[in-house]
Amino acid sequence: MAESVTRPLAGKTVVLGVCGGIAAYKAAELARLLGKQGADVRAVMTAHATAFIGELTLQTLTGRRVFTDPFQLTQESEIGHIELADAADLIVVAPATANTVARLAAGAADDALASVVLASRAPLLLAPSMNVNMWDSPLTRDNLRRLVDVAGARVVGPGAGFLACRWVGPGRMAEPGDIVEAAARTLSPQDLAGRRVVVTAGPTYEPVDPVRFVGNRSSGKMGYAIAAAAARRGASVHLITGPTSLEPPPGVDVSHVGEAREMRDETTAAAGSADAVVMAAAVADFRPREVQASKLKKRGGDEGAATIEMSENPDILATIGARRSERGDALPILVGFAAETEDVVENARAKLARKRCDLVVGNDVSAVDAGFSVDTNRVVFVTEDGEEARELDEKAGVAHAIVDRLVDGLARAGSDAPHLARRANTRRGDGGGDGDG
Ligand code: C5P
Repeated sequence: MAESVTRPLAGKTVVLGVCGGIAAYKAAELARLLGKQGADVRAVMTAHATAFIGELTLQTLTGRRVFTDPFQLTQESEIGHIELADAADLIVVAPATANTVARLAAGAADDALASVVLASRAPLLLAPSMNVNMWDSPLTRDNLRRLVDVAGARVVGPGAGFLACRWVGPGRMAEPGDIVEAAARTLSPQDLAGRRVVVTAGPTYEPVDPVRFVGNRSSGKMGYAIAAAAARRGASVHLITGPTSLEPPPGVDVSHVGEAREMRDETTAAAGSADAVVMAAAVADFRPREVQASKLKKRGGDEGAATIEMSENPDILATIGARRSERGDALPILVGFAAETEDVVENARAKLARKRCDLVVGNDVSAVDAGFSVDTNRVVFVTEDGEEARELDEKAGVAHAIVDRLVDGLARAGSDAPHLARRANTRRGDGGGDGDG
């Protein structure tokens, strides 16, 4: 998996334009986070920004001289606004104040930041931050629209909340993490644009009584990584998740569910309008036949043993697969997972047929570096056409490889080729796909 897809900011020159608003203090965190993603961050500050945050702060965090004044000969000879404009892979203006939005919309080049923006062909990402009435002003709206329509700028935020000016409403700069995600998205291929992807993730909790449940060790990390990768590549993503401790990826619609039957209802409803459904959830196969109305009491001694009778849960993946084959439901791509402790490929292949999916992602959950809870996974892709055993990879890398399969499959959907036929680098029956790489 190319780093340009899994880490789109790595090695990229990102010009961070900081304007004079109270949110300027958050630009320090933003600079740090962009750097953490591997970007070479070059800060450019307006004169007003320097009243809110010290140049030294951004210089220290970026390891680069900060550019503030193109009319100062020493600065211009050291940095050069045209050189910076040419070097930029992306320009992020955060916070983008009403004043700078107006200057940029007018094509002004009256300071370092406006000069770099005007002279650059790099994509422009704006994170507006201003008083609610300034934000609501038809002039600001018009300026922003012009930047979007004429200059192709993208806008992240603003969020709503308490503003420093004591007004409540929209005008708060997007959180630095969300701006970084918007930046990553700006530099990512948008090969799932216009597609709807449903992803299930995490365990299900099957209640025993008001305080207990039967669950499993699924962390949800794989499914969340798939949702994040698909969203970053332009899909509109609906994540249906069992209980996890994870923060949902930005820009994804999330439904929180508990029991398998709730997950089934949400997923089957969402599948109706989806281009792809990826079932990464570890759905409990069984649930207690009866949920006790009050907490089960221990009774002590030999009397103490409790027996919980279990019923089988619906198989969501198989249900969606069957509907597709039998009712002709228009779902182009269906992906399942097979968490196995032995015979990964054989089991995954059996699941492919039984659950009528286009791709089964098999993994050996007995390995310490793959499967539940850890951040890495070693998977084998099993399709009607063959197998592709993948090396150990970050879950984000695996997620992007799955998204690649969705992109390929959707491009083929409608043709006679199997939706998710393997890529050219694998051979039928090569026997290498046992999930151990
Ligand atoms: O049969 P098994 O549980 O191994 O199948 C795993 C795949 O089936 C996963 O994609 C999982 O999300 C899905 N599944 C399901 N409903 C179940 C059990 C599993 O959708 N009740």
